[in-house]
This record gives sequence, structure tokens and C-alpha cells, in this order.
Amino acid sequence: MTKFTVNDRPVQYRMDPDTPLLWALRDASNLTGTKYGCGTGDCGACTVDIDGEAVRSCQISIANAEGRFVTTIEALSPDRGHPLQQAFAADNVSQCGYCVPGVIMAASVLLRRNSNPTDEQIDTAITNICRCGIYPRLRGAIKRAGRIMRGEERIAAAPPPGITPEEAARTVPALGRSASPAKQQP
Ligand code: FES
Ligand code: FES
Repeated sequence: MTKFTVNDRPVQYRMDPDTPLLWALRDASNLTGTKYGCGTGDCGACTVDIDGEAVRSCQISIANAEGRFVTTIEALSPDRGHPLQQAFAADNVSQCGYCVPGVIMAASVLLRRNSNPTDEQIDTAITNICRCGIYPRLRGAIKRAGRIMRGEERIAAAPPPGITPEEAARTVPALGRSASPAKQQP
């Protein structure tokens, strides 16, 4: 039994401890915003926040996540109100969108440390691969999100989400035996 916190909820996964975190999140917790791209740590589509660090969830087992705090794209903001989500929507950054959750999670860690990054700092921090080639718009949106965070710019709120974090995190019935639902600690 592996216990840690996902999106502020304690979870217990009854899965092989060597299971990559990515598959526990996607298959057991139904948090499908975290994407599978390569499985080798190269693309960054699976990036989540673990204890304030951007981590490729295909490269860490659930055993190694024991006791840690994991945040996925579903919980970055309850209302898509994170400055990165606002800026990405306003700037129409996404093409197919597949890489975007991982990019945003990596960028959120960067902006938490440095809300005014240079192109070079963005390129160093965001090593995610985008097959659609959104890199120029991506840099611009990250800088715009930084301006929002610094109070230098305001933009219209992004549209409301179509699914709540609670709905996204519900246990998939067919997989109910492999993972227990998220439970509140006493
Ligand atoms: S799926 Fe994890 S880095 Fe590509
Ligand atoms: S927007 Fe398509 S992979 Fe990045």
C-alpha cells in the first residue's frame, strides 16, 4: 500500500510499488490531464508538481512518491484562474494541446521562483517537447503570466472548466479494486 497526497487529498494505491506515478494518476485516480508521451523522461508531457519541483511522473514510482505532495494540472487552479492558464488561453498557445498540461506544470514551478524569466531561463526550465512547435507563443505566454502575477497586467478570465477537480479525481469503477478512492484523513 502506497500512501501520499494528490491534489490535497490523501490517497492509497493498492498497486505494485514500482508502478510509475503517471499510471497511478491516470488509471487509478482518473487524473487524465497528465499525459503519456514517451515514457522515457524526454518529452515532459507527464510533468507534475511534487513538493514544489517539476517531476516527470513516468520516471518516478509510486513507492518513491510515498509521503510526498503531488499536484496535477487538475488542481493547479479550481477555476482555470492560474495566470498561466489565463495567458495560454488568451494567447491561443495550444495547437493539439497534448503537451500543454505538462508545459504549464513545469512553467508554474518556474514562475513560482522567478516571475520575470528571460527567454534563456524559460528555455532552460521548460525542456518539454511540443510536436506542434508552439515554442515562440509558449515563451510569450509564460512572460505574460509573469506580468499577471506581478500585477502589471490583467486579462479576462478563462472560460469556466467543464469538469471539477472532484469529478476528475473520482475512482474509475472498473479499476476500483486496484486503488481506493481518495479519503480524507481523520
Ligand atoms: S511521458 Fe514522461 S517524459 Fe515523456
Ligand atoms: S500543442 Fe501539440 S504537442 Fe504541443
